[in-house]
Amino acid sequence: MTDRTFHPETLLVHGGTLRSQFGETSEALFLTQGYVYDSAEQAEARFTGESPGYQYSRFSNPTVTMFEERMALLEGAEVARATATGMAAVTAAMLCQVKAGDHVVAAKALFGSCRYIVEDLLPRLGVASTLIDGADLQAWKDAARPETVAFFLESPTNPTLELVDIEAVAAIAHAAGARLVVDNVFATPMWQKPMALGADVVVYSATKHIDGQGRCLGGVVLCSQEFLDKHLQTFIRQTGPSMSPFTPGCC
Ligand SMILES: Cc1ncc(COP(=O)(O)O)c(C=O)c1O
Repeated sequence: MTDRTFHPETLLVHGGTLRSQFGETSEALFLTQGYVYDSAEQAEARFTGESPGYQYSRFSNPTVTMFEERMALLEGAEVARATATGMAAVTAAMLCQVKAGDHVVAAKALFGSCRYIVEDLLPRLGVASTLIDGADLQAWKDAARPETVAFFLESPTNPTLELVDIEAVAAIAHAAGARLVVDNVFATPMWQKPMALGADVVVYSATKHIDGQGRCLGGVVLCSQEFLDKHLQTFIRQTGPSMSPFTPGCC
């Protein structure tokens, strides 16, 4: 387990390192779908979640765990789950917490595919959405309804660089009984930590600055252990937007 007090520069390189029995200096790629067990009983306990450990790489994989732990350390989040792309992260973060009849409020200045999730996909599944001017704090207050479960915003926005007051919107969301989800792709956790400003869930496209070299696609959702246990882990396990272990080898 990495020391949370390490400087960000150190966390970027060593955060989350899980060294195997071979003592490798660089992180290993665990190219495996499944894992072995000492007994059928142990396998059963792993699959039901009664005993910790890896079961199947759609659920979790040691190489991907290193990337997740590194991102959680950089963000100051309790936990992280990596995904195949940034859009898989946004889709998982939103869909895992809603059901038909719920309502979502979002800033209208969003990356185009995120607009599709909020404006087209959620309503098709019976989740109403309202798009507002993210800079207008009164608009967030006015849009909230008793059935609002989440606020969603991006700040700075890609590519128009519009800014939203994350701290103020988090307070409005919480007063309305909703969670705030922030897409922090543009700023990265090096320059802005939305959870420290009150956000409940943070999403990234790791395809952008986090890879930094234009080589691979990736995404990550950061949240509390409670949100992971209640919403996200089951969604990722059952729907499979998981990150390939090849990806953190590049990121
Ligand atoms: C703000 C923002 N959110 C989400 C995404 C989607 O990420 P990806 O292309 O990795 O699916 C992007 C990609 O440019 C983005 O800029």
